Amino acid sequence: MLLGTQQIGENGHLYIGGCDTVELANRFGTPLYVMDESALRTTMRAYRAAFEDAYPSTEFYFASKSFLCIAMAVIVEQEGYHMDVASLGELFTALEAGFPPERLALHGNNKSVDELEAAVAAGIGHVIVDNFYELNMLKSIMQGRPVTMKIMIRATPGVDPQTHRLIRTGQADTKFGFNIKDGSALKAVKESLASDSLQFIGVHCHVGSQLLESDTHVQAAQVMAQLLLDIRKETGVIVENLNIGGGLGVRYSETDVPPAYHEFAAAVVQPLKEALEKEGVPLPTLQQEPGRSITGEAGTTLYQVGAVKRVPIDEEGGTRLYASIDGGLSDNPRPQLYQANYSCLLANRAQQPADTHVRVAGKHCETDILIQDTLLPEPASGDILAVQTTGAYNFAMASNYNRFLRPAVVLVNDGEADVIVERQTLADLLRGEHIPSRLLHIPVER
Ligand code: LLP
Repeated sequence: MLLGTQQIGENGHLYIGGCDTVELANRFGTPLYVMDESALRTTMRAYRAAFEDAYPSTEFYFASKSFLCIAMAVIVEQEGYHMDVASLGELFTALEAGFPPERLALHGNNKSVDELEAAVAAGIGHVIVDNFYELNMLKSIMQGRPVTMKIMIRATPGVDPQTHRLIRTGQADTKFGFNIKDGSALKAVKESLASDSLQFIGVHCHVGSQLLESDTHVQAAQVMAQLLLDIRKETGVIVENLNIGGGLGVRYSETDVPPAYHEFAAAVVQPLKEALEKEGVPLPTLQQEPGRSITGEAGTTLYQVGAVKRVPIDEEGGTRLYASIDGGLSDNPRPQLYQANYSCLLANRAQQPADTHVRVAGKHCETDILIQDTLLPEPASGDILAVQTTGAYNFAMASNYNRFLRPAVVLVNDGEADVIVERQTLADLLRGEHIPSRLLHIPVER
């Protein structure tokens, strides 16, 4: 499986964005996150075009949680996307990148006063309110100010997607949003409308992530269409914006087949148009918040293979070949967290037959298996392993476990490679650490 601009060169090496990945590994070190700029831009355009063809008015918010750094925010801005931020850090990054604040929306199920105040001070476009506690907090922050804050109400549509339990959010039993069935969502809309300091601009839902079928989104669109009708009936208000969240899946392996954008668009807009047109209600602007589907396949992580060992695994003479790489749990926690499955190839011998079963292991002090079983040319120490589809929720979720340094991110395009995030240094690791002087004065017993 080759994704984005990935190609096998005449030298048998894997190329991304016209760059030889073996050279990238030598030049920038490993582990290395490689982001394919053309793949990012192409996907953003294709996603948007599909919905623009299917629906009169659309707006795209890039879900920055999937992958954010200053350069990414610049690309998102250039592509005409809006952006969803869900923390002070994401907001700060966007603002530092010069992202227009009016194209930012703030998310979060437990926003702090600091986050809300920073968002207000920056003049962001709107806040997606999750609960009554936040609604009241925002009202009091806005009180006495000469401006109002635009808000959307996050609703829980009560639909349950087929995906890992940790990335389901649309079901009733969730920490996110206002329940629709028990009337909370409608109540929140009414309270927003009654407030002088808030301006209600729409409703939002997000059902889950890595969804490879359209049905949950279709069900959510049906439920949300009904909510729009109920809001109109109860308050007379025609809802201007409906955000159906993110969630479209990506190819981690050849068996992961997400719907094509135009099929997805057609499936999602159909119930919405049908329900609203039947009642003669104007269609809202349809907003979406894709994250993984934009960044996932655009990212590849390069590792160097170190120890390779064959170990006996049963009494019948069965063995397993372990290839350990120079990263693992700290740069990609997803196999451990969500039993995620990744595809890989040997970047320096990409044309050789993949005929050997290999278990790819990380180098942390626990059993951090990155890939349980994959076929590769027989690996040797020094090979460069390219793990695909690591653009989403890898760099974003990286940690310093075992005091590993977070890898660099390189952006490639048309044969050019630029570091957009530097590799952490040992000095970075210790920055901000102190030894209280009293510790130095404690007599040590030996
Ligand atoms: N909108 C909201 C409100 C979200 O919570 C999310 C993701 C998105 C949009 C973007 O969803 P996407 O298009 O990326 O599926 N760490 C997990 C994924 C958590 C997703 C959190 N919310 C993972 O690595 O799979």
